[in-house]
Amino acid sequence: MDKALLSVLTGRTPGRRPIWMMRQAGRYLPEYRKLRAEVGSFLELCYTPELACEVTLQPLRRFDLDAAILFADILLIPQAMGLDLSFREGEGPVLGTVRDMGGVDALDGGDSVLDRLAPVMDTVGRVAAKLDDHVTLIGFCGAPWTVASYMIEGGSSPDRRTARLAAARGDDWFEALIDRLVSCSVDYLSSQIAAGAEVVQIFDSWAGDLAAAEFERWSVAPVARMVAMLKERHPGVPVIGFPRAAGLGYEGFARRTGVDAVGVDASVPPRWLGDVLSREAVVQGNIDPVVLIAGGEALDRAVDRLTEAVPACRHILNLGHGIVPQTPIAHVERMVARVRHNDGRDASES
Ligand code: CP3
Repeated sequence: MDKALLSVLTGRTPGRRPIWMMRQAGRYLPEYRKLRAEVGSFLELCYTPELACEVTLQPLRRFDLDAAILFADILLIPQAMGLDLSFREGEGPVLGTVRDMGGVDALDGGDSVLDRLAPVMDTVGRVAAKLDDHVTLIGFCGAPWTVASYMIEGGSSPDRRTARLAAARGDDWFEALIDRLVSCSVDYLSSQIAAGAEVVQIFDSWAGDLAAAEFERWSVAPVARMVAMLKERHPGVPVIGFPRAAGLGYEGFARRTGVDAVGVDASVPPRWLGDVLSREAVVQGNIDPVVLIAGGEALDRAVDRLTEAVPACRHILNLGHGIVPQTPIAHVERMVARVRHNDGRDASES
């Protein structure tokens, strides 16, 4: 079997429609919860290559997926730049803050950042050595805007108001912070590729926060700079961009940033993905994680609409956002089986 994900991303006809799920390694899996309870902390898991490798592989043992995604977090970069990071039970991440030029200047850069992230590269190498031939290894980082928003807010926040204000004003320190994140993130992805990542994804989870002009300046432009640098260093390595909740901003995003594929959230109609977006880029998405919890007929219909609307050679089937802890494993099995069934039927009809 070919590597279906890599085939789609490089313009070849895949042996089948590739499937993976954002956050596919995580708390909906009992084997993840068990290991996580033994280790005690999420960050300990991320920084222990043997365990991070094990967790990365867990979903692949259960489901017939086409990609593994490195087990790590987008907030490891700000931590490696010198900010304190912890994950409190039920509260999400708590991160040191940057809110002025002094804060930006105090951040570490260059080799010391990569040195602290060395265990992640170790994990990538271990996973690469263990994957089945048809499975593609995805590396990732957060996009500058999304990571900056956590650095400015000091963790999760209801509406990211302080970060959005800095973006709207175009403060000098905010621009300097974005620039620092562009260069650190490119070095980080580049190291992941050197260690064995075959595709990289840039998560701009909060792209939908930005008004149209700010979206261009703080999501599209920094991602475009990252892609240009990555393509220069690693010409053949595909990049997936995920400007979540970008709305009309999805159109032209691939053209303006140079990404090979665009991840879309569940609000976007499959018809539009098939008729419009998939003509300009490979499309990744966009089953609603809540529909995956619902399962049954609702899930079947959602899968059918998507596989009917978007051709397999231009599609990476995924969720519109990360899978959530209460998702029944049987529903994931049902989704994967349904996709395979639908595509098999199409293939035998043509
Ligand atoms: O997709 C994967 O399976 C790979 C691993 C991965 C994680 N986080 C593991 C994780 C990836 C790709 C991420 C990305 C990430 N992290 C994003 C972008 C994607 C998105 O969901 O929008 C963001 C915004 C973060 C920051 C983050 N990490 C938050 C806000 C939280 C707390 C919320 C939560 O679900 O607990 C995390 C923790 C986190 N990252 C967990 C996992 C498996 C749960 C940690 C635990 O075991 O308690």
